[in-house]
Parts: sequence; structure tokens; C-alpha cells
Amino acid sequence: MDKFILRGGNPLQGTIRISGAKNSALPCMAAAILTEEEIALENIPDVRDIETERKLLASMGAEVELGYGRAHHRTRIRCASLSDPVARYEIVKTMRASSLVLGPLIARTGMARVAMPGGCAIGGRPIDLHIKGLQAMGAEITQAHGYLEARAKRLKGAEIVFDKITVTGTEDLMMAATLADGETLMENCAREPEVSDLAALLTAMGAKIEGAGTSTIRIQGVERLHGARHRIIPDRIEAGTFLIAGAISGGDLTVAGCKPAHLTAVTRKLEEVGVRCEIAGDTIRVRSEGKLQGADISTEEYPGFPTDMQAQYMALATQADGVSQVTENIFENRFMHVQELVRMGANIRVDGRTATVRGKTELSSAAVMASDLRASASLVLAALVAQGETIIDRVYHIDRGYERIEDKLRGVGAKIRRIGDVFPQKQTDEGAA
Ligand code: UD1
Repeated sequence: MDKFILRGGNPLQGTIRISGAKNSALPCMAAAILTEEEIALENIPDVRDIETERKLLASMGAEVELGYGRAHHRTRIRCASLSDPVARYEIVKTMRASSLVLGPLIARTGMARVAMPGGCAIGGRPIDLHIKGLQAMGAEITQAHGYLEARAKRLKGAEIVFDKITVTGTEDLMMAATLADGETLMENCAREPEVSDLAALLTAMGAKIEGAGTSTIRIQGVERLHGARHRIIPDRIEAGTFLIAGAISGGDLTVAGCKPAHLTAVTRKLEEVGVRCEIAGDTIRVRSEGKLQGADISTEEYPGFPTDMQAQYMALATQADGVSQVTENIFENRFMHVQELVRMGANIRVDGRTATVRGKTELSSAAVMASDLRASASLVLAALVAQGETIIDRVYHIDRGYERIEDKLRGVGAKIRRIGDVFPQKQTDEGAA
């Protein structure tokens, strides 16, 4: 398994370009299932989850060309026939977002077999709300041998009120409803920018959708959808991670090619902590020269502070004076980075859903272990200010969602390198966030 070796202490300076949003690219690739024509996507990030989705679609009979060379960051997908509408456990277990194919498969083929995702590193992540919504649309769903089997001649429009806000649940049912018979009205929907991005692609494919990006989405089902071309929005979580990298290292860093409006909760909090954020067009420049002052965060659905930025913010809070309370409201058990940060010298206490960080503490290098995607990012951030050389193990978690993070950081002055294992072991488990 690859490791990162990172020597802390260098203020980051320069410009980092942001890649396309993984969490938008994944549902957009799944949307290709809805038509036999070609879907061409641009600004696809070169991360492991995308390769996993390529494998998933290909295993069902889709033709997927994932661009390399000149066509880098592009994909062309054609689901002319889906000979095998099954999402196998071997693939689903490595990427929870695989459940995004459930709705499109039933809508297009009238049947789907999708392996149930198990528990995972950041708490149980059920898909009961996907199932409930599809049942309301007339799907018959049974469960056996760890698989969900869903059947419906043609889905029919329904009124769905989500018991809880779910991002991929909103996306899954929105895709299913595009080909349903009649109107679907969905309430209490996720308002994340990735939902709106998917709706933009679906609309380009001929779907009739109103209200994406608000909590009420109305979809008029159509008989068929056609091919389309779409550019994926920039990754707001990657951008937020690099903003904190600039801030924590006491640097002067510009994050370019992002959508600042998607990052308001993060930039406001950074300013509260004492980091200067200047927004100009699609760039955000962060500068942190003086002292940082601790501030509380509480994760919420968009437009609140994202749970996917909680671990990274906690690394920053260890470098701020005073007490910062970090409350995680979206996922249970999303504090696995805490014990590793503590091993580096942080003063953090967890009580239920709240972690109390007391700063500022000097961090010192240690051998640490990445446990999930965003937790790994927080360890990289902590290592940027730690004294000495930090070794971060299991960086395959980071590769799931960050494109060449070590190259991007090295480009702005970080002393980070990747080393491979002399005796590579099988990469195991899971896919959080
Ligand atoms: C998506 C993001 C992930 C982010 C998360 C919350 C993708 C691919 N992943 O994950 O990066 O951390 O949103 O912003 O877009 N829940 C249920 N039943 C369900 C579905 C969800 O109880 O059927 C619960 C979950 O356990 C969790 C909460 O709802 O507590 C939110 O989960 P959800 O928004 O569905 O997360 P994902 O879509 O999996």
C-alpha cells in the first residue's frame, strides 16, 4: 500500500487548480444508464472512485471510454444494451455510491440487482430511503443473499417526502422519475450543487425537471431520453481542503477554477477563524499571517458547513487559540481522524457527536493511518504544520477522491512524496464519502 511522507513547516505559496467534482461525476455517469445514446462528460476527475464506476458500468454491458492522453478528464459512455443489470458486491463494497445505479437501472430495464452496501468506516449508511421512494413509484423490491432485487414494468410518478435529507437518495430517485409515467413530486430533497449539476445533465438529455437545488423537485416523466454532453462542476470539497492547506501552513495560496458560491459556509468560517479570503471570479486566495482564533462548527446539509470538510477543519482548529467545538450531525462515527491527530499532539476530546479541540498545540510528526477519504485529508493537513516527517499509511483512501494530491501540494511548496510498498498487500475495505 502506498504511503505519503510529508515534512512539515513550509508555508504554501502559489496556485492550485481544482478538478471536477467526484460527487457530481458519479451520479452523472450513472445517468448514462437512462439512454441508449452516448453521454459525453467533461471535467471528470482522475480519481479511483471514477475508475470503480467505470468498472461497474462496464460489468453491466456499457461501453465506457475513460479518457487518457489528450482526452484526459473526459468520458464517453454508451449503454446501448445493458445485458447484465447487476451491481456486484465486489464493486459495491469498495464504493457506496454504487447504489446510484439502482434507480436508473429499474427505470431503463425494468429490473435491477444491486448488492447491499454494508456498514462502513463513517457509520452505517443505509439506503432505505432509496428503496422507499422506488416502492412508492411502483417497484417491487425483495432482498436475498445480500442483494436487492427490484422490478417494475414502468415506474409511475409519485409523491415522495424524504424522512431525512439524502444526497444520493435525491439523485437516485430524480433519475428514476425522469422515465416514470406521470409526475413525481419530491419534498425535503438535498440542495447540494451536485444535485443541480445532475439535473442539468438530465435536462440536456430531455428530462423535465423543476426545482433542483431547492427542497422541492418536480419531475414530469418522459418516454425516452437521448444523448448529451455535459461539463462537471468543480469539486468544492477539494477546493475547501486546499483552502485549509493554505491557511494551516501560514501561506498565501490561490485556489483556482473553483466555484466560490459553493464554498460560502467554508470561507465564512475561515474568516471567523482569522484567515483572509479574497474571492475574484473563480479563484479564492487565502492568507494567514497572524494568530488563528478557534470557532465552533456544526455540520449540516448544504448550504450549511459540509460534513465532508469536518475532518479538515478539525486539523485547522488544532492550530487556533482557544476552544473549537466540532459537532457532526450527518454521520455517526465520523471522528476517526481524532485519535490520529491526538497522536500527533492535538488536544481533542470526543463526547458523542461533539469533539472539543483545545488549541493551539504544536504538532509533531508520527506514523499515522488514513481511515477514510476525508480523515486522510485531515492528516495530510496536520502533517503540513507538524515538526518532522509524518508518514501517512493507506493513502488509497485519499486516491478515491483527490486527484494527485501530492503533486498539487508539491507544486505550491509542500515537501511530500509517495512511496510504494515493497510487499504490496491487497487493498481492503470500504468507501466513505
Ligand atoms: C453523499 C456524498 C458524501 C457526503 C454525504 C453528505 C456522494 C457520492 N457522497 O453521500 O460525500 O458526505 O452525501 O453530504 O455524493 N440516510 C438514511 N437512509 C438512506 C440514505 C441516507 O438514513 O436511504 C442517512 C445517512 O445514514 C446519513 C444521512 O442520511 O446519516 C445523509 O446521507 P446521504 O446524504 O445519503 O449521504 P450519501 O448520499 O451517501
